Formats: sequence, C-alpha cells, structure tokens
Amino acid sequence: MSTSPFSLEDKRVVAFGGGGYLGGATVEMLLQLGARVVVADLFPDYTREQAALFRDNPACRLVTCDVSSTADVRAAFGACREAFGGVEAVLNFATYMGSAKAGEGNLKRFSVEETTDEDFDHSIRGVLGSTFRVLREAVPFLKESGGGSVVLTSSMYGMVSPDPSIYGDSGQNSPVFYGTGKAGVLQLTRYAAAHLAQYGIRVNCVTPGPFPAQRKLPPEEFLRKLSAKTMLGRVGRAHEIAGAYCYLVSDTASFTTGANLVVDGGWTAW
Ligand SMILES: NC(=O)c1ccc[n+]([C@@H]2O[C@H](COP(=O)([O-])OP(=O)(O)OC[C@H]3O[C@@H](n4cnc5c(N)ncnc54)[C@H](O)[C@@H]3O)[C@@H](O)[C@H]2O)c1
Repeated sequence: MSTSPFSLEDKRVVAFGGGGYLGGATVEMLLQLGARVVVADLFPDYTREQAALFRDNPACRLVTCDVSSTADVRAAFGACREAFGGVEAVLNFATYMGSAKAGEGNLKRFSVEETTDEDFDHSIRGVLGSTFRVLREAVPFLKESGGGSVVLTSSMYGMVSPDPSIYGDSGQNSPVFYGTGKAGVLQLTRYAAAHLAQYGIRVNCVTPGPFPAQRKLPPEEFLRKLSAKTMLGRVGRAHEIAGAYCYLVSDTASFTTGANLVVDGGWTAW
C-alpha cells in the first residue's frame, strides 16, 4: 500500500502554543497523520479528548514553555531532539498581549489613545517578538535535519483592520497592538523565507479569520455580526484550519515558501 503524500510519518514537530484552541486541533491532526509532536505551551487548555490523545502517547510530549524566554524555547527544541532524535517542523500559535502590568489583562480598555508605551511594547513582544524568537531558535535545529518547515500564525487583522462598528462594547475588541504585531508576522515570514531558503528551510504563515473557541463563544449578537463579515456567513471551527498547518509541514508543500495561507471564510477577499 503506498503512503499518502500528506503522510507526516517522517516529521518531528514542535508546536508552540499547541495547547490552545487552534493549536490543539492541529496537534490532533498532526498525530493522526503520523507526526511525532512536542507541544510547548504555558497555559494549555486541552479538551478531554485531546488530553486522552496527547498524554501517555509515545508520539507526543507535553512540555511547559514560556515563549518570552529564549531558554524555554531552546529547551522545547531540545526536548524534541531528545525524545525523537531531531526536528523537521516548527509551528507557532502562542501569542500574548495586554497590559504590561501583571493582572491587568482586560483588552476592553485598549483604545488607541489609552494604550501606553509600556502596554504597546509588551504586546508587540508577545505577538511579534515571541514569534521571531521561536523562528530564530528553530534555525540550528532545522539545519541539523538538513532543512525543514516553519509555520507561523498571523491574523486577518494583520491584513485588514477590525471594523469598529461590529464590536461596540461587546468586550471582544481587537486592540491596536494585535493587528500591528500580526502584520509584522507576515513580513517576518517573507524575510525569513528569503534568507533561510539556502538551508532548505521553508517559512510560511497561516492567517486565521474568525475562530472563536467553541467553549468560550462570544455573545450571540456579536457572533452574528462576525459571521456576516465572511463570505460563508459563519465563523470557523478549529478543525477547519488544522489542515492548512499540516499541508505546510508536509512534503506536498515542498515548493511553497514565503506564502500566507488565509483561512478566513472569505473575510479579507471582499
Ligand atoms: N481564534 C481566532 O479567532 C484567531 C484569529 C486570528 C488569529 N489567531 C491566532 O491564532 C493563534 C492561536 O489562537 P487560539 O485561538 O488557538 O488561541 P488560544 O489562546 O486558544 O491559544 C494560544 C495558546 O498560546 C499559549 N500561550 C500564551 N502565552 C504563552 C507563552 N508566553 N508561552 C507559551 N505559550 C503561551 C496559551 O497557553 C494557549 O494555549 C494565535 O496566535 C492567535 O493570535 C486566532
């Protein structure tokens, strides 16, 4: 029986932020396709099914990792090398932002005029700086494997602005530093793709549209407005984006680098 071209049986993957909504669904699919995966996360929130699938699975390791720490990021790659012998692919889902002061995370108050220099810097580090750190620290490990695939995560709000009229006081407001940092992730993807191709390293980005976590769905009225902004008239479910990451890890994407794969129900296309 021939192996599927989408098989990931020869891929060893580190997934930063792989314990979250989109990351968790992607790790599930990676494992299903035969990859061996290290999930590196600080506050993982696995579903019951994911916990059962990931824990005590010889193809999966769960490590505590803070992407704001170079030592932690390096250790996560080291854990993959130790457990599985090397690293062929790296995914980043992890993002943090908000107030620079501990315990002040409410995004509601981050209007342009109320965002302080400290909050902006802290959040750009969390959205863009941590993505850069993961990418940079991946390079020696991927070189050791003779090349590989890096898949970063941007957002539709790195491509277009949130429309303030749909947010009102819903509490779901997307702050200025989020999209600004995510736009940087798109350019980081292109820059890194151009400069790392010589090592056989492909760098691509997945850009999610609206994927509210099913366990924390926003108020119905807001969800209706959000859905109406897509061509498909609804929000996405995590399993509908997991395949984009798996494709970019797989050898079927061997000629794809510097690309932005938008999965947004058409939000940014009209
Ligand atoms: N869900 C959406 O609608 C949507 C839309 C556009 C873009 N995105 C992007 O997709 C990615 C995943 O989003 P999600 O909805 O799964 O979010 P999520 O919050 O469920 O997952 C993010 C994960 O990152 C982890 N994390 C946070 N800070 C960390 C740190 N310092 N170190 C290590 N891990 C840390 C969290 O513990 C969490 O498991 C994010 O980059 C997000 O910006 C999501």
